[in-house]
Amino acid sequence: MNARIHTERLATSDEDLVHFLDGVLREDTTTSIAEDSPLLFGTGDDVARRIVRDDAGNVVSHAAARIAVWRSAGVERTLATIGAVATATTHRNRGIATAVLHDLIDDLKQRGVEIAVLWSDVPGFYEPMGFTRTGVELLVEVPRRLHGVAKSTLVRPMEPDDLNVIAEIHAGEPHLLVRSASDWKRLVGIPRCDVYVLEAFGQVEAYGVVGKGHDLGGCLHEWGGPSRHLPSLVGGITALRRESALWVMSAPWRREALAPFTAMGLEIREGVLGMVKALHAEIPKNLYLFGLDSN
Ligand SMILES: CC(C)(COP(=O)(O)OP(=O)(O)OC[C@H]1O[C@@H](n2cnc3c(N)ncnc32)[C@H](O)[C@@H]1OP(=O)(O)O)[C@@H](O)C(=O)NCCC(=O)NCCS
Repeated sequence: MNARIHTERLATSDEDLVHFLDGVLREDTTTSIAEDSPLLFGTGDDVARRIVRDDAGNVVSHAAARIAVWRSAGVERTLATIGAVATATTHRNRGIATAVLHDLIDDLKQRGVEIAVLWSDVPGFYEPMGFTRTGVELLVEVPRRLHGVAKSTLVRPMEPDDLNVIAEIHAGEPHLLVRSASDWKRLVGIPRCDVYVLEAFGQVEAYGVVGKGHDLGGCLHEWGGPSRHLPSLVGGITALRRESALWVMSAPWRREALAPFTAMGLEIREGVLGMVKALHAEIPKNLYLFGLDSN
């Protein structure tokens, strides 16, 4: 760490910090970062946070990480998702964000976190710190005109009573970041996060999530349930929305669910999951995080 930069551990966020972050990271929207990353701005001890202040005591740089359990084939690893990395325009290119991140990562290592993941438009900033573009997400753009819904199914917006079933469906995924009931409640409450369910013979069997605050608009970034329901889920969701097409994002182990789209002549693309750094463990092969897990 640069010795001239004093980083400070902050237990919880406050209004001034959120105001600073909204000014840097949410200029183009009225949604606050505290609303669209609710788990990063919670009060629990599962968040590590570092800031730097100027001489007047104002925050000029910040980074935070949410610590959770990633479960894969019965093996659990501690994983942190880093987000809200920002430096005031007046203080950039002095090594401040680099110092904040080094300190945050040291903190994560001390807490036993094994893997750190982040999503960024500026990968070049993170590469010198050992983050590499890692993992695969499958993407397909599905025009609404191509779709219908199987007669035996009904797609509708979720109701509060559906949440337990949605969480159960998600818990059946082979690789996942574990979510508590309270995590779920906060995640589905994010503004412009539209959750839909597919009912077959009167039972909720699949779900899908489109949008998430200022991010992932027009994208079905998380879905769960049997692969055979995906075409109907997508068809039903597009029928309920205005977009002319829906981007469908899928875990790499769900490739077979996309076969009907390939049969329609649509291209399945492979995107990069995110930027990952191994802290105490190897980067696992099946690392994938669902849309609601991103900060
Ligand atoms: C990205 C950001 C946090 C960097 O903050 P900072 O305090 O200026 O960072 P540092 O001074 O530690 O920069 C370290 C290095 O990263 C480089 N860097 C900054 N932005 C970069 C980018 N977009 N691509 C590649 N390198 C970048 C700097 O040039 C500097 O390199 P150098 O030391 O070789 O000159 C800041 O520019 C910012 O807040 N940007 C807007 C929000 C944002 O994009 N956040 C990250 C989203 S995940």
